Order: sequence, then C-alpha cells, then structure tokens
Amino acid sequence: MGATGRWMFWTLCVSALRVTMRESSLEVARGDFVVLPCSFYTSASNHLSRLNIIWTLTPFSSPEAPIQVIVYDHGQVIEDPSLIGRVGFTGLPLSADIMLNDTRVSDAGIYRCMVNNPPEITDPGIGELVLSVLVPPSLPVCQWDGDINMGGSVRLSCLVAEGIPTPEIRWDKMNPDEISLPINMESELSGSVQIVNVSSQTSGLYRCSATNTLGTENCYINLSIYTPDSPSGILQGVLLTLSMCLLLLALLVLVLWLHHTGQDGRLRKGRGDKDEFYNEIRYTPSLMKRSFV
Ligand SMILES: *[C@@H]1O[C@H](CO)[C@@H](O)[C@H](O)[C@H]1NC(C)=O
Ligand SMILES: *[C@@H]1O[C@H](CO)[C@@H](O)[C@H](O)[C@H]1NC(C)=O
Ligand SMILES: *[C@@H]1O[C@H](CO)[C@@H](O)[C@H](O)[C@H]1NC(C)=O
Repeated sequence: MGATGRWMFWTLCVSALRVTMRESSLEVARGDFVVLPCSFYTSASNHLSRLNIIWTLTPFSSPEAPIQVIVYDHGQVIEDPSLIGRVGFTGLPLSADIMLNDTRVSDAGIYRCMVNNPPEITDPGIGELVLSVLVPPSLPVCQWDGDINMGGSVRLSCLVAEGIPTPEIRWDKMNPDEISLPINMESELSGSVQIVNVSSQTSGLYRCSATNTLGTENCYINLSIYTPDSPSGILQGVLLTLSMCLLLLALLVLVLWLHHTGQDGRLRKGRGDKDEFYNEIRYTPSLMKRSFV
C-alpha cells in the first residue's frame, strides 16, 4: 500500500489529523516579532476538547538542550519559563500558529510543531521549520599602527563585534578617488590592510565598512604621512644649513683668532714682566752702585 493508498485508508476508516507548515524557514531581525505558522487539518473540528499542541525548539546555540517552547493541553497554555511573556498562540483552537516577540539570537533554531487530537490518528502530526535571527553589523572599530614616516609601513585594522549573517568587511580609500583596498581577513570579523613604503600619496581618509543583509556600518581613519618638506622647503633647509655652517665657521675663526691674540697678549705681557724684572735687575745694580758710590 503506497502513501496515497494509506491516506485513502485513513480517510475512509478513521479521520486523520494532518499538520502542515506554511513555511519551512523564516528570518527575523533581532528584536522584531515573528509568527511561526503551523496549520492542522482535521475532520473533527467540532471535537477539539482533547486537542494537544506542543512546540519544541532545538536552538542552534545549544542543540543538546531542546526546550518545550509552548504547550496547549486540555484548554491550558504552558510556556517555557525562559519565554514567558514573549510567546503565545495566535489562533487557538483552530490554528497552532505561535507568535514570538522581542526575538533574540538564542531563539534561532529548529522549531517543531506537534498536534494531537485523540482519538484522531495523525499523519503526519508533526511539522518543522528553521528560524534564523538576523543581527545588523555592529559599529566597526578602526585602528592603525606602524610607521607614518615616509617609507614606513602602516597597518589599518577593522574589527566588527557582531552581525548575522557574518558581515563582509572592506576597506576603501576615500580620496582623491575612492578605491577598494586588498584586505587580509584575520578572523571572520576582523580585516586589515597593509600599506608598505608610505608616501605623501598614502595620506587621506580611509573607510572600513561592515555589511550584511540588514545594513552597513562604517568607521574611518584619517591618515597623515609625515613627509619631509616640499622641494622649496628642501632648498630653504639647505640654505639654512649652509648659513648655519658659515656662521659656525665664522665663530670658529673668531674663537681661534681670539685664542691666538689672547696668547699673544699673555706672551707680550709675560715679556713685559720680564722686561720690568730685567729693568729692575738692570737698574738695581746701578742703584746699588749709586748707593755704594
Ligand atoms: C507580542 O506583542 C504584541 C504587540 O507588539 C502583543 O499584541 C502580543 O500580545 C505580544 N505577544 C506576547 C506573547 O507577548
Ligand atoms: C618607495 O617609494 C619610492 C617612491 O615613492 C620609490 O622611489 C622607492 O624605490 C620605494 N622603495 C621601495 C623599497 O619600494
Ligand atoms: C584629515 O586630516 C587632515 C590633516 O590632519 C585635515 O586637513 C583633513 O581635514 C582631515 N580630513 C577629515 C575628513 O577629517
């Protein structure tokens, strides 16, 4: 007996309850609400007193710990304690749809909807859908390190803390013309640009952007490469150095001359002393002579 045959058999003999999911996968932006659809078809829609609905979640973040999201049983609704106030049925008892408010990343995973209405047979009594919770890129952090002197090398890095799906990171130089730069991905969420032998043309505004389906966030670095002055500046520098050298030379000459003349003066002064001494010697005998005479 094929599937169709079995279905015919159940329809003919015992009515069967059938669950269908109107979506197999859904996406929601974190913080928004989402309706998880689960329809069931029953021929006993007037006898739903024993209707039983169970929604379970196997989270992507902790697949080993599935939870019972919400249960409808004997007219009572029971929510998982972690979801109280955020989850509710929207169409009881004719639909098993639930609404999830204020969605979080931890809500992402595989949801299963199980419906029973004893004594009805179910075929199938279970449906499944995948919920993704998307997160826009966070504001990236731009940083630079390295040597911003001419000829040096500079590294620009960009780190984005979160984003689902994983944001694409790119670096662009904004001026004089906008150009895209080759990027090294250091991890899924961090990319850098290495610029070697920097020159004055390297100076300018750089932008890192992190983009996913929910949007783009940018950070900027304004790089100023430290270059020696322009040619006229070099000339000025040369002239300045030259004049400084001349001045130093002049000073040196002056010092040497002063030194020389100073020695001369001392020599002459010394000779003068001796002169006086000799004079005394010279005159003393005559004085003595004179006194003795
Ligand atoms: C979800 O929020 C809507 C309004 O935004 C509200 O009407 C609904 O009751 C909320 N559902 C739950 C389960 O808290
Ligand atoms: C660095 O760049 C200058 C021109 O900007 C070039 O003359 C020089 O050869 C480069 N040096 C190296 C090591 O690439
Ligand atoms: C970048 O820095 C230079 C010099 O430091 C300045 O003239 C220029 O306006 C800055 N540009 C931006 C976009 O901040």
